[in-house]
Amino acid sequence: MSNNLCDIAVLGMAVMGKNLALNIADNDYKVAIYNRTTSKAIAAAEENPEQNLSVFVTLEELVANLKRPRKLLLMVKAGAAVDKLIESLLPLLDEDDIIMDGGNSHFQDTQRRFEELQQHDIQYLGVGVSGGEEGARRGPAIMPGGSKAAYDAVADIFEAISAKVNDNEACEAYMGSGGAGHYVKMVHNGIEYADMEIIAEIYSLLKANGYSNLEIADVFENWDRGDLSSYLSEITVDILREKDLENPEDDLLDDIESQVGAEYRAVGADNESEFLLDHILDISEQKGTGKWTNQEGLELHVDLSILYSGLNARYMSAEKTLRVQASEILPAGVDAENALGKPNIDIEELGNAFLLARLIAYAQGFALYKSASKAYGWDLDYKSIAATFRGGCIIRSKLLVPIMEAYDKNPDLDNLLLADNFEAAISQGITALRKLVSTASLAGVAIPAFSSALAYYDSLRAARSQANMISAQRDYFGAHTYRRTDRDGVYHHEWNDET
Ligand code: ATR
Repeated sequence: MSNNLCDIAVLGMAVMGKNLALNIADNDYKVAIYNRTTSKAIAAAEENPEQNLSVFVTLEELVANLKRPRKLLLMVKAGAAVDKLIESLLPLLDEDDIIMDGGNSHFQDTQRRFEELQQHDIQYLGVGVSGGEEGARRGPAIMPGGSKAAYDAVADIFEAISAKVNDNEACEAYMGSGGAGHYVKMVHNGIEYADMEIIAEIYSLLKANGYSNLEIADVFENWDRGDLSSYLSEITVDILREKDLENPEDDLLDDIESQVGAEYRAVGADNESEFLLDHILDISEQKGTGKWTNQEGLELHVDLSILYSGLNARYMSAEKTLRVQASEILPAGVDAENALGKPNIDIEELGNAFLLARLIAYAQGFALYKSASKAYGWDLDYKSIAATFRGGCIIRSKLLVPIMEAYDKNPDLDNLLLADNFEAAISQGITALRKLVSTASLAGVAIPAFSSALAYYDSLRAARSQANMISAQRDYFGAHTYRRTDRDGVYHHEWNDET
């Protein structure tokens, strides 16, 4: 009888749930599947008859057909759906059964659920999963957090289904208790926003400089052979080369009216272009994890300026109508003699600035991990986080290897930029970054991520900042006091005292 029981249940057969279920089944686990709307679960099983998937219609039947401790992976819409499903499952489960949430839940929800379920002796894991549809199917990066005992019980499954690097190093690791797994995934997405924005800015700079899409693709392809190798660069090459053919495989998903009037949509676009990219509306959307990361930066007082610039760029992109109007009103102030509206670009220097900006994005994300680890008592292992990011996930890049080495040498490193592994990247990149920011600025091309990277770098290396002025101003208008450089104590000065 027990031989027929399933090893694990996956609840939620939308894209990610279905692909993870298939991935688990590929690895010789017997997988029970369930979906609120049963037809989707039946369709998933019918589309994959060769896989070991058993469909269950009710939660009762599902739970009754699982080996103990039962392992249930929820892949449903983040938010209320997760709470509702947990509530329905609770009366059906026994002590030490394991509920896992593999969706994009906010880490605070995960922390709360972890604590609530502890009271019921149910083991809970919040599992960050990165890699999108293809990653879920072929090998994602997996960031589980919560009950360590639960992790130990499911580690073999995570190891089997995760992405592998260097032949067989699995891109999965236990991140810490409570909401640590979802936190690590959230910040991953914040870094992803920054890296995507950096790449988009390079595209914009090269375009402003007269490069064609194919030439820009060649630049990224060349970089990708060296230290700048990354998944996001790889897909950028493909995107730049994609022609705008009438493609029968392209689906019109929703016939919704755009919020941007037709008269504004194509402004500034190359409407004759043969490339798909040139016909894609310049508005980027987001699902919230990038915003959450930045909110955490604000909460924990960590400068995430480059991550924030990635988020802001998306917000500003949404203001298409306003931007078109402003483009007709606001002068560029570009000095035609010096800059001719065209940034002066040296490709090798641009590559060096790219690597440094990417490093700074990681440095900010990992600085947030360090603060969070302390604030939430997680004992995060930064080397292990970097190792997990090496495969399967969207920000996988060659730069993660020296990042791992840096944390291997000093697990307590205060800031990645201070690790000697990056001396060469910094010395080659910093002058290039300065030149890039100034030439873009003189040409009137916005590169907020690069500009933030440079401002962060210079702020970080300022042994004496301008904050003495801020302190003096606060004391002046609000008697908020200040401290002195030459002696201990807290002081107030009567700034207005005329006597
Ligand atoms: P998508 O990822 O396609 O946008 P979604 O609305 O995020 O879809 O939902 C993802 C999964 O969560 C689906 O399996 C959905 O079940 P249905 O197919 O029945 O819609 C599931 N889901 C959403 N709300 C749920 C709830 N309250 N209880 C159980 N499952 C739920």
